[in-house]
Amino acid sequence: MNELAIFGGERTRVEPFPAWPVHDQRDVDAVAAVVRSGNWGGFPYPGPATERFLDAFLALQGGDYAVAMMNGSITMEVALRAAGIGWGDEVIVPAYTFQATASAPMMAGALPVFVDIDPDTFCIDPRAIEAAITDRTRAIIPVHIASQMADMNAIMEIAAKRDLIVIEDAAHAHGAVWDGMGAGSWGDFGSFSMQSTKSLTAGEGGVLLCRSQERAWRAASIIDCGRPHDPDGELYTLGANYRMSELQAALLSVALERFPAQFKQRELMAKYLDEALSEVEGVRVLPQDERHHRRAIYKYTFAIDPGAFGATNGILERALLAEGIPCWRGYDPMYRYDLFQPGLSRLPVPSAFPEYFDFERMHLPVTERVSAREGMWLDESIFRAGESAVDDVAAALEKARNALARDPALADRIRQS
Ligand SMILES: Cc1ncc(COP(=O)(O)O)c(C=O)c1O
Repeated sequence: MNELAIFGGERTRVEPFPAWPVHDQRDVDAVAAVVRSGNWGGFPYPGPATERFLDAFLALQGGDYAVAMMNGSITMEVALRAAGIGWGDEVIVPAYTFQATASAPMMAGALPVFVDIDPDTFCIDPRAIEAAITDRTRAIIPVHIASQMADMNAIMEIAAKRDLIVIEDAAHAHGAVWDGMGAGSWGDFGSFSMQSTKSLTAGEGGVLLCRSQERAWRAASIIDCGRPHDPDGELYTLGANYRMSELQAALLSVALERFPAQFKQRELMAKYLDEALSEVEGVRVLPQDERHHRRAIYKYTFAIDPGAFGATNGILERALLAEGIPCWRGYDPMYRYDLFQPGLSRLPVPSAFPEYFDFERMHLPVTERVSAREGMWLDESIFRAGESAVDDVAAALEKARNALARDPALADRIRQS
């Protein structure tokens, strides 16, 4: 009875989850209008659809200036270059993130310095930032991970004290608000991704919010083949074509019309899940900081007690997937990636500074614990599927814990299967 689905038992969740992205006639009409206009690409930058979208995005997110780009990776590289950060400069990044956060400094010639995360948010720990600052530190890239935000008050205070640039990686945080201000509008720059899994998407795309007009002009030049964007400017800068197309911008304007209702539904269901999970033994719902005024649910993160579950997050991930629950155990620590090993990456920065990339002795305890044992991620589709889906998540977790804790051999069987 109640055998785990991974061993042939009945699945907890049989109904499928709603697909993402969604579309309706408005998307078709918006794309058709751009097609008929003949102005499909991003040149000259910015085109009318791009300008319209950027204005609406600034209204949603706050911030002063916005530059539209191809994706939410190039945004961070461009921000670093627009701030004059490059060869040999140190950039502090969390060790628990998507690889783009850490490869962006390397693409700009700078050195990513990995630091630990806060166990209550899985976001960068401000105390770890302070401890990692050296004479060569020029910037910090906090990442607002999944449904959480980094402590922007503390980070901005450190940055002001040490004269550092802050680039928020807000790829997961469309619509999120921290202490009255939108994610991405706190730092000198805010980087957003519009790639197909993101809450606001055109399949691909990115936006960089900039606090200074000068840096926004510089960023626009870098993404527009180096053309000057300062009205008095005549000089070309080193740039390439990283522009967003008008087709993407048109789709994003339509996506923005749907966004508030989607945001609200995910937020409401996430609250319902907080309550459901707080009843599940062995699950730790991440506490909500009261300054986190609006929580964007790109994915939903929580922690498990591997002792209570008789299993780590990797085993639980496999058991839950078989139960029909879309979930993930989360990122590996960045410093374990081949990309950052001098001998394996063959990239100029690790090769030139091998001492920075000698991670044999690197040990960031919270990152490693969250990554290999406790961290769990749930897909946003659960929240669009309504209360019954959330109930199924709680039921699947109960079922998995009961089975795994009762019979320690099951975790081994899953590991070996
Ligand atoms: C935290 C984070 N930063 C940056 C990116 C990069 O965005 P893009 O795929 O648009 O380049 C992603 C994408 O998945 C991400 O999850």
